[in-house]
Amino acid sequence: MKILAIESSCDETACAVVEDGVTELVSVVASSKDFHEKTGGVVPEVASRKQLEFIFPVLERTIEDYREKMGYSGKEEAIASIDALAVTVGPGLIGSLVVGVTAAKTLAMSWKKPLIPVNHLVGHIYANFIGGHTEITFPAVCLLVSGGHTDLVLMKGHGDLTYLGGTVDDAAGESFDKVARMMGISRYLGGAVLSKKALECKEQGAAKLFPRPMLDQDNYDFSFSGLKTAVKRYLDSGERDVSSTAREFEEAVVEVLTAKTMKAVNNFGVKSLLVGGGVSANNRLRESLKSETEKAGVKLFIPEPRLCTDNAVYIASAAYFNNVTKDLSDIRAEPSLNIMGLI
Ligand code: KG4
Ligand code: ZN
Repeated sequence: MKILAIESSCDETACAVVEDGVTELVSVVASSKDFHEKTGGVVPEVASRKQLEFIFPVLERTIEDYREKMGYSGKEEAIASIDALAVTVGPGLIGSLVVGVTAAKTLAMSWKKPLIPVNHLVGHIYANFIGGHTEITFPAVCLLVSGGHTDLVLMKGHGDLTYLGGTVDDAAGESFDKVARMMGISRYLGGAVLSKKALECKEQGAAKLFPRPMLDQDNYDFSFSGLKTAVKRYLDSGERDVSSTAREFEEAVVEVLTAKTMKAVNNFGVKSLLVGGGVSANNRLRESLKSETEKAGVKLFIPEPRLCTDNAVYIASAAYFNNVTKDLSDIRAEPSLNIMGLI
């Protein structure tokens, strides 16, 4: 089954075709990141206008790349071979979501194909299924770490997700971005830049300059806002070395994420850990989870970095494994802060 998916929840306009939920055939991603760099954060109005500008070229590029890859003689033949459409319906910026949802609904109507709505966060989990990881076993614990969310979820099977806990304030990615801005190393989406700076630190180990919020609490919740404030106080109180500050901050985030995730893994006795979202591209987090899961005899799945950040490949995969088509009039762009709201 071939699914063409559209993702437009924030500042990426993406489209992909995936076969049977695991084989990526084509993927196209356009980003308005450069525009948000100027303002030091996403201006929703700018993001949605860029979605409008990018959606047609991205769709056309995807169909053309797909036609070429599959050896179809024309566009019509390529379109006829697609079995269903999928689209991100939330959470996300409403103006951005509406562009993708409207495009998907219009194509579904004119091509007479079913349309499958997908939750963006559930989508991030499915980046782990690309390439056909048949060794994923259920129940599994999923750690979702993106720019807007930090959630721990118990996955008993496809479509059977239970929310265990999440951040009570800032998301992990948001804290990376805000600290990178405070340090003056990046104005927008500074997670990867901060992580690179941390690598430049020559000192071994971490001095544990910053707090490990909620580490000792008996729950699966996180808090990153106080940690961000602690970094700000530290930076304001004297001349600070950028690379060691970055390293200390990254260590604090990684330690809390790893400990709470492993607590869930152990308490639920799962044998698979699935990680998703932009922050799962972080090398230190990948290393830390790898070492802890190896000790615990648990299989770790983290998508290749390219699939960690927003794209439509995992949206198509999530649609395949949760194939619940809805009446077109029912499919709305529905932003939700609650991961469970749209499952
Ligand atoms: O999943 P994503 O692409 O978009 C959302 O759905 O939010 O995640 C973006 C987030 C940003 O906060 C970005 O700074 C962070 O992922 N990120 C990283 C790294 N790469 C991306 N954070 C830490 N280390 C990285 N290497
Ligand atoms: Zn995302």
